[in-house]
Amino acid sequence: MEKFAVYICPKCGKKLYLNGGSLCCEEGHCYDVSSAGYVNLVAGSHRTGGGDGDFAVAAREKIMDAGYYRKLCDRIAREDISGRFLDVGTADGSLPGQLKAAFPNAEFYGTDLSKFAIKHAAKRYKDVGFAVANSAKLPVASGSVDWLSAVFTTIFPEEFSRVLAAGGRFIRVTPGREHLIELRRKLYDEVRENETGSTVKGFTRLSSESVRDVFRAEGELSEALIGMTPYGVRSSKARREAIKGEPIEVTLEFIVEIFKKEE
Ligand SMILES: C[S@@+](CC[C@H](N)C(=O)[O-])C[C@H]1O[C@@H](n2cnc3c(N)ncnc32)[C@H](O)[C@@H]1O
Ligand SMILES: [Zn+2]
Repeated sequence: MEKFAVYICPKCGKKLYLNGGSLCCEEGHCYDVSSAGYVNLVAGSHRTGGGDGDFAVAAREKIMDAGYYRKLCDRIAREDISGRFLDVGTADGSLPGQLKAAFPNAEFYGTDLSKFAIKHAAKRYKDVGFAVANSAKLPVASGSVDWLSAVFTTIFPEEFSRVLAAGGRFIRVTPGREHLIELRRKLYDEVRENETGSTVKGFTRLSSESVRDVFRAEGELSEALIGMTPYGVRSSKARREAIKGEPIEVTLEFIVEIFKKEE
């Protein structure tokens, strides 16, 4: 099935073929395609409950639907995307989901360690091939993708380089200095600056751009915004309660870096 074309068996590394309602390799290792339409490719006894839970995923989806990534998607869509595009740590899958609408001829894939998140993503974006997978050891064939994006998630340069085809592009998105600064000021006494711009082994940076927007939220949406950020979990409960549901206007600043895989 095209939708899962890049995935390989996490046990033996061989290609997976659709066999009834499962993806199987020639060694007989099989993985069910769930009724939601995703496949779990975390081998053995590794837990897949890591990452965002149900609440965080639902909060994230509300925020995305309110246009949180609009400018970011527009920026990425300025690239000439074709072939196969993999978004790792995709969470609710809104990035590949929205890009698929802009590039219907390209193939989009999304992986995340959180089963909750991938289930959610697969139900919503039927044209994207979603798998529960660890970015540190992707069940993806070597040299099989043309684009790989990692938005606000951990990067594994060697592994990303392995799955990218020669000349493939890696898009890293990290928070800029001003990202959610208003919210951070409300929740903390001291505001640390976000770090950006480090080099990535095995890749050459082609461009780096700051993409800014203003996001307004109130009531449920404002609560969802606080709930979805790491600040929601790490800041003091009293401070969070004090601003719960309050209308907020925040700066979004995404640093979008595009790298080329070195030969
Ligand atoms: C802050 S969220 C960002 C999600 C999404 N890229 C976005 O920008 O909306 C980080 C995501 O990375 C996932 N994640 C963290 N470590 C991971 C790993 N080693 N492999 C796969 N996913 C991972 C988490 O489950 C979570 O969904
Ligand atoms: Zn196998």
